[in-house]
Amino acid sequence: MSNCTLSARGAEFPASPIRALASAARAREASGITVHYLNIGQPDVPTPEPMVQAYRDFNDTVLAYAPSDGFPDLRAKLASWYTTIGGMRRSIDAEDIVVTTGGSEALLFAMAAITDPGDSILVCEPYYTNYSGYARLLGIHTKPIMCLAEEDWAVDINRIAAAIDETTRAIVIPTPGNPTGRVLTVEELEALVALCHERGLFFISDEVYRELVYDGPRGSKAPSLLDIDGSEELGVVIDSASKRWSACGARMGWLITRNTALREAALRFGQARLSPATVDQYAVSAALDLPEDWYCDMVDEYRHRRDTLVAALQAQGLDVTTPQGAFYLAVPLPLEDASAFCHWLITEFELNGETTCLAPLSGFYATPGAGRNEVRMTYVLNAQKLEACANILGAAIKAWPGACADAPA
Ligand SMILES: Cc1ncc(COP(=O)(O)O)c(C=O)c1O
Repeated sequence: MSNCTLSARGAEFPASPIRALASAARAREASGITVHYLNIGQPDVPTPEPMVQAYRDFNDTVLAYAPSDGFPDLRAKLASWYTTIGGMRRSIDAEDIVVTTGGSEALLFAMAAITDPGDSILVCEPYYTNYSGYARLLGIHTKPIMCLAEEDWAVDINRIAAAIDETTRAIVIPTPGNPTGRVLTVEELEALVALCHERGLFFISDEVYRELVYDGPRGSKAPSLLDIDGSEELGVVIDSASKRWSACGARMGWLITRNTALREAALRFGQARLSPATVDQYAVSAALDLPEDWYCDMVDEYRHRRDTLVAALQAQGLDVTTPQGAFYLAVPLPLEDASAFCHWLITEFELNGETTCLAPLSGFYATPGAGRNEVRMTYVLNAQKLEACANILGAAIKAWPGACADAPA
């Protein structure tokens, strides 16, 4: 018998609430039920053909390491893409970019570069649940700032200012937001930058869904922190190939900062894990040649999905706020325990041989008890499947044997 024991960090690290029901869902599929996966941000939009072709074309005799911060050619191409197709006003230098294993590693590197154990970061609730995962890995705390559906998930700067204390090192916000879809305006970004200046904080702006905004003219993008005056020293942008090019499995991301010390720290972290993947960088390079229309068509498809899902849920009597961007929807349900409901939905309920896998939203809050009656739905499947999911959800709420709040009309 060994006396080895795990660290508290290893033993207590929480499972992802997004993936928690995955094995139950697979078991249900094995029993012959069709499962629609709306729990995870995995789109069914085809990965662009030039990316796939880049994988086919790879024929180096040695699959070698890449430079720790990514191929210089790729970083240069990314930098110029931002000011052409990417729609940024201010130029970005290749030297400002560190290529990482997904936006996930970019987040981890950014947080690691600016915090020490015991420090804290501010996150707007409900927030992308992995922010607290990286925080636990680093021994830091996430301090939640409550955002409310009835306020359209607006980020309240006064609540943020009031939450800052001597341990606070940074604000971390996704825009467009996961799971709220909230898109920060230029004015909101400016106010946050001013607050960060005043209080000596970094600002990590997670922009992995930047193209996915639905209410402006064709080709609109969410405003970027990199375009805000004053963000040079305190700003870090997180970006990724995953959602933009429906290439989650490429595991390609990057961070961008004009703060040289921060970028050099990220590079040293990158050296410790040697390099980001090699072949996937060629695929990203190929994707950077896609025309503007490719993005516009993708956004049209997601807008159609959003509108279909929102209308179908409203037809079921559910009170949902139309998201401005990304592909997530936070949905309050007329019942008391959405976690138990999601588990029952995937393990027991079916409508015409189909069911759906949803993520309970409580895992996206740090405040105890918050989000208990809410779920997150992703509109990553086609409109027909989304309508089926809304019908399944409506029927399941009526059949739910657990405790209910007000039944939907
Ligand atoms: C807000 C946000 N940031 C970052 C990521 C990380 O994405 P990836 O590591 O696939 O680039 C995700 C993934 O869902 C996300 O939703």
